[in-house]
Amino acid sequence: MTRARIVGTGMGVPDRVLTNLDLEKIVDTSDEWITTRTGIRERRVAAPHESLSDFAVPAARRALEMAGVKGHEVDLVICATVCPDMPFPATATMIQDRIGADSAAAFDISAACTGFLYALGIARQFIESGAAKTALVIGGEVLSKYLDWNDRSTCVLFGDGAGAVVLQGTEEEDRGLLDVALHSDGSLGELIFRPGGGSLHPPSKEMYESNLPFIKMRGHETFKIAVRSLAEVSNETLRRAGVAHDEVAWFIPHQANRRIIDAVGQRLDIPEDRIYVNIDRFGNTSAASIPICLDELNRAGKIHEGDLVLCSAFGAGLTWGACLVRW
Ligand code: ACO
Repeated sequence: MTRARIVGTGMGVPDRVLTNLDLEKIVDTSDEWITTRTGIRERRVAAPHESLSDFAVPAARRALEMAGVKGHEVDLVICATVCPDMPFPATATMIQDRIGADSAAAFDISAACTGFLYALGIARQFIESGAAKTALVIGGEVLSKYLDWNDRSTCVLFGDGAGAVVLQGTEEEDRGLLDVALHSDGSLGELIFRPGGGSLHPPSKEMYESNLPFIKMRGHETFKIAVRSLAEVSNETLRRAGVAHDEVAWFIPHQANRRIIDAVGQRLDIPEDRIYVNIDRFGNTSAASIPICLDELNRAGKIHEGDLVLCSAFGAGLTWGACLVRW
């Protein structure tokens, strides 16, 4: 059986660093509150002229370079994002053009913080069915552009950036993407949403003068659901793959809140030294969170051949999911 295997990883983030001390000058908050309640110390924020493709294209190029794959060899480009360069065309087509993937299919998908795992699940089907030989999957966001910088309950949480992976088929048994589990519950959509700019609240002077274009989140209610869903979906993939918790070499949870990560780690009984955390440096980068973690770990040489890597994410929709990879 052909399985999809990750053969390259990459990331791209803005140069500009916004620290908690910088935020103290913008809203009524403190470094102490942000650090203790979220684990975030700083995040990367795009400059006014920068957009998603400015981070997604370098992330894609780095992943291709690691994989030793040329742009024209890519036959599928999927970009998971809720911050595309434009409502259309898809940012994936801009990436396709800039990397020279001249015969690739390209499209965006929207599943917020779970977007990368949704895109990975789709790409896996293309590879396993033989519909694509080489797939490029990008998760990227520029959520700083959609934050209400007067709302301290959201503006301190998010950061910008992109991560990418290249997938190819392998016939090796028990290697590559062993499982992907994806879920949703639209009845809880109003826990995290950005209502303005779509066909329900289309662009108008009134819309832009309201707060509809900005992210709204009921964080406290989201917190408990996030912990429960992340633990459940992680267990689901482990159970389906017949893998025990102590066989997991790395657990990469979505980086939304350090307290969520710790609570999920405890529920899964995975020790702290096997849970990857970079929320202190990047904040919540939504769809970029997991591929950025993967690239950091991979480039640091901390993932070894044969290691089991478990990733799980949770976000607006609500959506949640997990994947299990044998490296
Ligand atoms: N600085 C100082 N005080 C603050 C700040 C801030 N930045 N933000 C909120 N507060 C205050 C509140 O006003 C409140 O004050 P009050 O008690 O006087 O009313 C108090 O802190 C506690 O507020 P809570 O919202 O209850 O704080 P909580 O401990 O729940 O932390 C947080 C908030 C960080 C948002 C947390 O609930 C969380 O991480 N939730 C989950 C987020 C998540 O997982 N989102 C999914 C992905 S996002 C996506 O898909 C785009």
